[in-house]
Amino acid sequence: ETVEWEAASYDMGGHDTYMHKEISEQADAVDRVLRGRIDDRFSTVHLGGLNLDPREARGIRRVKILGCGTSYHAGMIGAGLIESLARIPADAEPASEFRYRNPVVDPDTLYIAVSQSGETYDVLAAVQELKRKGARVLGVVNVVGSAIARAADGGVYVHAGPEVCVVSTKCFTNTVVAFALLAVHLGRIRDLSVTDGKRIIDGLRKLPSQIQEILDGEEDIKKLAAEYAEAKSMMFIGRVRGYPVALEASLKLKEISYIHAEAYPASELKHGPLALIEPSLPTVAIVPDDDLLEKNRAALEEIKARSGRILAVAHTKQEKADHTILVPKNEDELDPILMGIPLQLLAYHTALAMGRDIDKPRNLAKSVTVE
Ligand code: G6P
Repeated sequence: ETVEWEAASYDMGGHDTYMHKEISEQADAVDRVLRGRIDDRFSTVHLGGLNLDPREARGIRRVKILGCGTSYHAGMIGAGLIESLARIPADAEPASEFRYRNPVVDPDTLYIAVSQSGETYDVLAAVQELKRKGARVLGVVNVVGSAIARAADGGVYVHAGPEVCVVSTKCFTNTVVAFALLAVHLGRIRDLSVTDGKRIIDGLRKLPSQIQEILDGEEDIKKLAAEYAEAKSMMFIGRVRGYPVALEASLKLKEISYIHAEAYPASELKHGPLALIEPSLPTVAIVPDDDLLEKNRAALEEIKARSGRILAVAHTKQEKADHTILVPKNEDELDPILMGIPLQLLAYHTALAMGRDIDKPRNLAKSVTVE
């Protein structure tokens, strides 16, 4: 059983598809998730619905994030933000995997359920199982008053507005921004300095205009999509913060174009997938200008040495790549938020060139409310 597609209830606002509309709305959407939550006086973030007092926040020893599909990928980036800014060990796991492996439920762990719809059965069931065992569970949810929002002890609404296209774009971006806000909030109660708090807050404020800048480059990405649309299969690579971006970009391409795609940490290439590299298998590489730049460049060289074609998403032109999509630089921690956006457009234009039913891809549903 799945939630009915409610296309009729929203206006497409001049766009040909909901996906295009939703991608295009992301600057405003991010503005909304930030609004009213930043406290400049203490360089921190207020989140009204968290239900977590400072003493409890200091007592958290571990964070476990649960979600499915795109929300799981947003949770992976969220875990990275919490670990780097709040210095709490954090990781993400698919909700149903978690539930079925009889996990150790620890009272000092903060569990966070991520769901756009707030109705995904696998996530809801994990929340209920955790609650039954006495755990504290927060929700990072888009749909206000949804089942997961109600079942959780508190949480953060991502305020992306209605998302109609089956595949998630603006909710992914807003969910990651919501995690950045949560990470600053937790960090500033713990060991994140005023200076670093302010640095991230300033970076968050830059996001809407930087997102708009990326969206304004759509025509160039459309041309690239035409070049890569002939591929039977594509590889996506990234390192640490860039790896979940690669995973999400590969999922987006699979979902709407039906091109086979896989994502690997760039460091794992040499342990297997390098065997696949040849001219007919293009690689999309996430190459931020951060402490891992040289490592990422080395991966590009490895691919080039095997005659692989490379499309880089980077802050500066990459010599080893056949094409580079340039994105504006933000703080290192926030770069993944921006690097995913051109790849939403790449998937979109690839699927469009192939004549796919973008808003309603075959075999998929917006909300999977059964197991
Ligand atoms: C379905 C959708 C995906 C989505 C996943 C989780 O599989 O097709 O696009 O990411 O559910 O949905 P949620 O509403 O929990 O974020």
